[in-house]
Amino acid sequence: MTLEYLMKHYQQRVDKQLDLCLPFANINPSRLHEAMRYSVFNGGKRIRPLLVYLTGKALGVDDIALDAPSCAVELIHAYSLVHDDLPAMDDDDLRRGKPSCHKAFDEATAILAGDALQSLAFELLSHNSEMIKTLAVAIGSRGMVGGQAIDIAAIGQSLNIAELENMHIHKTGALIRGCVKMGALASEMIDENLLNKLDHYAKCIGLAFQIKDDILDIEANTETLGKTQGADLANDKVTYPSLLGLTGAKEMATELIADAINSLNDLDQKADPLRWMASYILNRNY
Ligand code: IPE
Ligand code: IPE
Ligand code: MG
Ligand code: MG
Ligand code: MG
Repeated sequence: MTLEYLMKHYQQRVDKQLDLCLPFANINPSRLHEAMRYSVFNGGKRIRPLLVYLTGKALGVDDIALDAPSCAVELIHAYSLVHDDLPAMDDDDLRRGKPSCHKAFDEATAILAGDALQSLAFELLSHNSEMIKTLAVAIGSRGMVGGQAIDIAAIGQSLNIAELENMHIHKTGALIRGCVKMGALASEMIDENLLNKLDHYAKCIGLAFQIKDDILDIEANTETLGKTQGADLANDKVTYPSLLGLTGAKEMATELIADAINSLNDLDQKADPLRWMASYILNRNY
């Protein structure tokens, strides 16, 4: 078993489930449904669903119990990207190698597609109030959306490292943390101690994920990234490389990944894919 195999397997699985839950593009209002599908089926890496599946797998949970939360986190992620790219936010015309939703459609449709993707995510979780609460907290004003508000308010400002960390753990870390928690909630045998260890793992990889995203914004190229290279600099964003330099940012991400892997010491080899995911987050090139 390799991470490459698991990624492919679960990407296909979640794509099939997403296809089943999204309204067909010819159903009214068809332009809205078309925009929702456009924003979901455009080549995302599906890292968040993968984290749900792999956390559940580490605890012996059946994949069937993980399909709904996996779809829900990817729908939320897709909505967050559609809104993140809007002219009022990062004003980015390219996403996953294609025109951003507001470019392919129009701004109003992009706003509404994001809203509807979010709604659909919660509809999928309606059988499980603990998961609803976990996701709601993760992406609300004290989670992802709060982080996005800090990001926008910080444009052209000087943040210190603690403030930057606070921004990153909210805008990107909170949803990733929610993914691991939802995977764990699907298990009936999870104890508090293990939940805390997994949560620490998720916090570390969540922050490292955004640090790596900031590094890639500088080091990768537009074609590989599928989004505009150099967008952070162009938008005067505060990032880890802008505060610590590229070397400092890489060191920090490396330390966080080591910390994440360490926190899984109590788990057996069923948690190996989570360990591989941590390394993947550090070493990915897009
Ligand atoms: C990009 O996320 C946005 C951030 C939160 C940094 P991903 O790198 O997971 O994007 P996709 O889903 O693969 O396009
Ligand atoms: C995005 O961060 C965070 C969320 C969408 C919540 P970025 O603005 O850095 O993501 P990219 O680089 O546009 O994918
Ligand atoms: Mg942004
Ligand atoms: Mg952006
Ligand atoms: Mg970025």
